[in-house]
Parts: sequence; C-alpha cells; structure tokens
Amino acid sequence: MTQRVALVTGAMGGIGTAVCQELAKAGHKVVAAYHPEFDKPEEWTKAMAEAGFNDFICVAGDVSDYDSCVALTAEAEAKVGPIDILVNNAGITRDKMFARMELAQWNAVISTNLNSLFNMTKQVSSKMAERGWGRIINISSVNGLRGQAGQTNYSAAKAGVIGFTKALAAELAAKNVTVNAICPGYVATPMVMAIKPEVLQSIIDTVPMKRLAKPEEIGGACAYLASDIAGFMTGSTMNICGGLYYQ
Ligand code: CAA
Ligand code: NAP
Repeated sequence: MTQRVALVTGAMGGIGTAVCQELAKAGHKVVAAYHPEFDKPEEWTKAMAEAGFNDFICVAGDVSDYDSCVALTAEAEAKVGPIDILVNNAGITRDKMFARMELAQWNAVISTNLNSLFNMTKQVSSKMAERGWGRIINISSVNGLRGQAGQTNYSAAKAGVIGFTKALAAELAAKNVTVNAICPGYVATPMVMAIKPEVLQSIIDTVPMKRLAKPEEIGGACAYLASDIAGFMTGSTMNICGGLYYQ
C-alpha cells in the first residue's frame, strides 16, 4: 500500500487515540493534533510508544480558532509534508436542556464541533484536489441524526457536520478527494463517562447491543475510509451505533 500522511484532530482523546493507532497500523504517517491546553502530551506519547506506536508527530492547535489551524497545519506540513488524510475528530459537549442553555454553551459547541471543519478543512482540501487524491473524514454522531434531549447545541453541530460532508463531497468528487462522515453511537471515552451514571445506564439500556462502542470500532472505520479501496465512497454517513438508530 501507499504510505500517506494523516492528520487527526483531538488525537489524544478517546476516539482520536484509536484513530491514530488504526491509521498507523494501516501504514500511514500520523500527525496527532492536540488541544494547546492539554497538559499531558508527553504522557500520551510515552503511552503510545509503550503500546508500539513510536512515530506519531504531535502538533498543538485549537480547532475552534482559524489562525491556530493555519499554524498547526503549517507546522505539520513542515515536519511531514502535505496532508493526504484529514480526520476532523476534536469535539466537546456542553449538555443542558435548551431552556437552561446559555449562549456561551451554544457558541462553544458550534465553534469546536462545526466551525472547526471550516478552519481545518480549508487548510488542506484545495491542495488535495490539486494533487488528485485526498480523504476527509468527519466525526459526526448518532445524535446529529436523531436529536438528543439536552444537546440542542451538539445535535445542531453534528447535523451540520453531515451537511458539510455531503456538500463538500459533491464539490471534490471529480478530484478524487472523498469526504465522508462517521456517526458513532455512544463510545466508551471520557466524553461519555462524564454523563451521570444513572443517565448513562438508561442510555445503554436503549442500545440494542446493550453496550458502548469500543474506540477502535470507530478507528477501524476511519482506516477503511482512508484506504484506496474506499475510493468510490463519498458523501456518506457511516452509522456505528450498535443498532441505536436507523435512518
Ligand atoms: N427528554 C425530555 N425531557 C427530559 C429528558 C429527556 N430525555 N431528560 C430530562 N428531561 C427533563 C427532566 O424531566 C427535567 O424536567 P423538569 O425541569 O420539568 O423537572 C428537565 O429535563 C431537567 O432534567 P434534569 O434535572 O435531569 O437536568 P440536569 O441539568 O440534571 O441534566 C442533562 C440535564 C445534562 C441534559 C442530562 O439529562 C443528561 O446528561 N442527559 C444525557 C444527554 C446525552 O445523551 N448526552 C450525550 C453526551 S456523550 C455524546 O454526546 C457523544 C455522542 O455523540 C453520542
Ligand atoms: P474526548 O475523549 O473528550 O476527546 C475529544 C478530544 O478533542 C480531546 O482530546 C480534546 O482535547 C479535543 N478538543 C476539544 N476541544 C478542542 C479544541 N478546541 N481544539 C483542539 N482539540 C480539542 O471525546 P471522544 O469521545 O473521543 O470524542 C471524539 C469525537 O467523537 C468528538 O467529535 C465527539 O463529538 C465524537 N463522538 C463521540 C462519541 C462518544 O460516544 N464518545 C459519539 C459520537 C461522536 P482536550 O481534552 O485537551 O480539550
């Protein structure tokens, strides 16, 4: 297979870590982009090395800030060359029933989970088109498909991710650049572990498979979408939710 350069945002979080590992296992060179305020990048890098992943390139940047994305991508390209695969994975929750949601909680989620796609994709998509090969993989959510009480901000952003994916896929298809979204259900990561235990249990009870997804089940799908064999798949939303929701 051809070795490509992949950049993963939110790389040091639960799903991001698994995405980095699965892309590395598929033979790609991986740039792990992390939040500048994350205080344990060395610890993460050490844990990865202990797990056999020795050559991740780590670059800091805030995906909600356009200038930060310009700088992070430039640093990554200077270190490893052009980005062939972009995984827009960084995301946050600020759950509140809408009646109690504050503007700051709305804006934080829209900036981090949706505006980030503009900020990051803008740095790489035209260059991918010029080179005639590219993969853009956007992490949406089952809650962007169905709407979740307590998540008007998050569901709106994640539904926006799907619209962005479909529109950009149409623009870039002729250039051999694919753009796809993955819609995970509830995955065992810090984001989900922050839900109150009794609320989380009631959510798991509604999942036909009666469990959370493993991060590597999302990482594996990313590796597939990044591969050459996935070259005819674009504009799609891949649901990986244990049967929680059917479109
Ligand atoms: N549907 C409708 N109403 C609901 C409801 C629901 N599912 N859950 C609670 N309510 C109502 C309550 O009855 C209550 O009504 P009253 O004020 O009239 O009594 C009101 O909403 C407030 O409920 P709470 O007291 O429970 O409010 P809270 O502030 O303690 O909690 C919440 C609100 C934080 C949103 C909490 O319900 C929650 O965590 N829900 C889960 C949200 C969720 O699924 N988040 C996913 C996070 S992980 C993720 O996002 C990853 C992914 O992509 C899958
Ligand atoms: P996570 O463990 O909390 O990881 C999220 C990562 O994003 C963290 O590393 C976080 O860094 C980073 N991040 C947050 N804001 C950022 C910013 N402004 N700039 C750069 N990085 C930022 O959560 P996760 O579960 O792995 O989630 C990854 C993605 O999957 C998110 O988009 C999420 O919405 C989506 N998703 C998750 C689930 C699930 O059930 N877990 C389901 C569907 C979709 P810091 O922690 O340092 O801020």
